[in-house]
Amino acid sequence: MVMPPLPRIAPSLLAADFTRLGEEVRAVEKAGADWLHLDIMDGHFVPNISFGPALVKALRPLTAMPFDVHLMIAPADPYLEAFAKAGADIISLHPEAGPHLHRSLQTIRALGRKCGVVLNPATPVSAVESVMDLVDLILVMAVNPGFGGQSFLTSQLAKISALRRMIDATGREIALEVDGGVTTATAPQCLEAGADTLVAGTAVFGADDYAGAIAALKSGGGAKPCRT
Ligand code: DX5
Ligand code: ZN
Repeated sequence: MVMPPLPRIAPSLLAADFTRLGEEVRAVEKAGADWLHLDIMDGHFVPNISFGPALVKALRPLTAMPFDVHLMIAPADPYLEAFAKAGADIISLHPEAGPHLHRSLQTIRALGRKCGVVLNPATPVSAVESVMDLVDLILVMAVNPGFGGQSFLTSQLAKISALRRMIDATGREIALEVDGGVTTATAPQCLEAGADTLVAGTAVFGADDYAGAIAALKSGGGAKPCRT
């Protein structure tokens, strides 16, 4: 998988028009999106249900964008192979989704896919500390998972900074992604804190001009990065 230049923007399909998903995927790719973020929700781990591997598989031939699959399901282990076969490039899961995070990450790697760990707002950075040698991506939730369109929790900025230091100390290539409430107002703060990949649902699919929205997020919202 070729890594696009930073920062990457990963529009979240959850905010797309579900009656025209194929067109929406093609439109964000044309508009400059780097990855496609796919939110998988089971109505159990999070209080919402979205879609499963069948949709991921159906969309796969439509685009060359890497598929960034965010599993909000528990257990996740029984479905890892299905998402890998459906065409996921990166599969991320929450440590709370199962008893053996290290084993789950190993499984994703064995399936030939990149693996990620997702930290909820209340989950400390220590949850990923012992798997830094294995992860390809760390995803910081800046909202509680389950729904798009929520407000960004600024309390998560310190976590992004701490993870940036931890990642740099490893010398490994680990993407640092932020998910939830990313807008032109909060993107500069995320990038300043050390994130290199931004998930954006409402901020992209809710905009009239997808290309303009993606460009604005990439350039730090057009605003000067602000320190917190
Ligand atoms: C929330 C999802 C997010 C969500 C982001 O559980 O993980 O990816 O779609 O939506 P916005 O960008 O609207 O906050
Ligand atoms: Zn997500």
